[in-house]
Amino acid sequence: MRDFIPIAKPIIGDEEIAAVGAVLRSGMLAQGKEVKQFEDGFAGYLGAKYAIAVNNGTVALDLAVKALGLKPGDEVITPAFTFIATANCALYQGLTPVFADVDPRTFNIDPDDLQEKITPRTRAVIGVHLYGQPFDLSAVQQICEDRGIHLIEDCAQAHGAEYKGKKAGSFATGCFSFYPTKNMTTGEGGMITTNDDSMEQRLRLLRSHGDTGKYNHVSLGYNYRMMNIQGALGLVQLQRLEEFTAKRIKNAEFLDKNIKVKGITTPRRADGVRHVYHQYVVRVEDDFASSREKLMEFLQARGIGSAVHYPKAVYEQPFYRKLGYTNVRCPVAEDVSRRVMSLPVHPSLSQDDLQYIAETINSFEA
Ligand SMILES: Cc1ncc(COP(=O)(O)O)c(C=O)c1O
Repeated sequence: MRDFIPIAKPIIGDEEIAAVGAVLRSGMLAQGKEVKQFEDGFAGYLGAKYAIAVNNGTVALDLAVKALGLKPGDEVITPAFTFIATANCALYQGLTPVFADVDPRTFNIDPDDLQEKITPRTRAVIGVHLYGQPFDLSAVQQICEDRGIHLIEDCAQAHGAEYKGKKAGSFATGCFSFYPTKNMTTGEGGMITTNDDSMEQRLRLLRSHGDTGKYNHVSLGYNYRMMNIQGALGLVQLQRLEEFTAKRIKNAEFLDKNIKVKGITTPRRADGVRHVYHQYVVRVEDDFASSREKLMEFLQARGIGSAVHYPKAVYEQPFYRKLGYTNVRCPVAEDVSRRVMSLPVHPSLSQDDLQYIAETINSFEA
């Protein structure tokens, strides 16, 4: 019997275990030297001026929005098709999330619809590099610059992704997650990147009780710090990120070439991007002979995990409906949420696993 192939699997080796063990033995468990080294390494890797480590990706987004100092009722535009944290971080501040539709092939924010959704109250845009593919940064950055709107990049799924040769997260304020399913992990964990000196100062104060050092508290802050245990893990994972990414891209290329089912469309890569395949997401088209759910059951029964990221547009979630998002329509987001299906693409897959995934999906009969 072959082992079940999960949809995601972190790679933790002896080096990670040794690095975490060394921190545990040192007794310096909370934020310290390893976190600082991880921040410096991450900023250097990205080509960003600063990196500020926090305890998860949701907190990264929360602090990035908090640091803008917006007022209740100000509007923040996010794509309608993303993980819910992207929009929730506006709610944490009493801000109003406004949803823009997405491109039907890249699943990323549609700059034309973004333009349409701007009002005099729009203060920020949070673009998402969904599944590891950068959104149209040229267009979105231009819109934000022209209108004097802040831009945040949700890079939770895009470690090492590139747009026109520059890393995602080095264009604006970048927010990363290191959750175990992500392209690199620290267990829970997050990072904010910025090139802006004053933003960096505000983020560091927000992260740790507004403390400039030695209990001198100059502003309201929180305890959103990362531990050295996570920092040490992150440093090793960062050194391996390019190897992980190369494997993800190779795996995706194999699936692109070898999946041949009428009505299943393999992912579309936009021009000028380095897609890092956090997820490998196919579209189930109208001419597919069966349904997405039947195909997922078929794969599950044959030992292959799959998932739907995400089954609803954000405003269709019960919580958002309760908030009053009942008349919002982003037709493409709704449509793709019914069509997308993620297949395993993670770097732990063997050539045999990949072959098996392609053969199994190709053998599906309605
Ligand atoms: C697009 C997106 N934004 C934000 C987050 C939040 O990150 P975390 O789970 O580390 O809080 C995630 C992670 O699941 C995500 O996929």
